[in-house]
Amino acid sequence: MRVLGIGASPRKGNSEALLDEALSAKHIQGEKVNLRKLKLNPCLSCGRCEKRPGCVFKDEISALYDRLYDFEGIIFSSPVYFGSLAAQAKVFIDRAQFAWAGRHLMQRSRGVKAVLLVVAGMRNRPDFFRNAEEIFKIWCICLGLEYRGGLYFPGVDAVGDLTADDRRRAREAVRLLLGGREGSPPSSVEVGEQPNSL
Ligand SMILES: Cc1cc2nc3c(=O)[nH]c(=O)nc-3n(C[C@H](O)[C@H](O)[C@H](O)COP(=O)(O)O)c2cc1C
Repeated sequence: MRVLGIGASPRKGNSEALLDEALSAKHIQGEKVNLRKLKLNPCLSCGRCEKRPGCVFKDEISALYDRLYDFEGIIFSSPVYFGSLAAQAKVFIDRAQFAWAGRHLMQRSRGVKAVLLVVAGMRNRPDFFRNAEEIFKIWCICLGLEYRGGLYFPGVDAVGDLTADDRRRAREAVRLLLGGREGSPPSSVEVGEQPNSL
């Protein structure tokens, strides 16, 4: 199985370490792209993709979208930033507008599966994970990708906060891609912090 890992953190930190764990699974051919290493031109809303196929930018993000359907699975990792995905993730996601406008890429999908990995510094905000998941799910729908679920890691803030159990759980990402039980964001607030305290 060919799996593309897309990392959205601006630093070589926790979500990238989890992505590496996921891509280390046996029996897959993994490849990783860190969005921070690409030139991240955001969507200009220029409308050109509504008139003819493709994006006005002929850059690394367009090249990455062109290759998306060469893989059977996609694992996307991001930190939570201000209750959402990191800006790098959002720039990449918004650039899917050309695919949505043209409706041409999603027909190429042929069951490409996608899984999300998200880390957050706080322990008590499952809503942040749900926000991140909703955005990612919409991206999957617009690209014709089959969303297989997510793995969520609260209370991971400084680089090195990951536990051995976090790393073990990240390795389940490939199992999700292959059709295991879907992961969903934690629904309960963990004891120890007030739900509305930031
Ligand atoms: C700009 C910024 C915004 C953040 N916003 C949140 C947040 O809203 N909620 C939260 O739980 N953690 C937040 N964090 C903490 C990160 O999610 C946390 O440090 C995470 O481990 C970073 O992942 P990384 O090491 O993969 O970059 C924020 C960190 C930064 C730098």
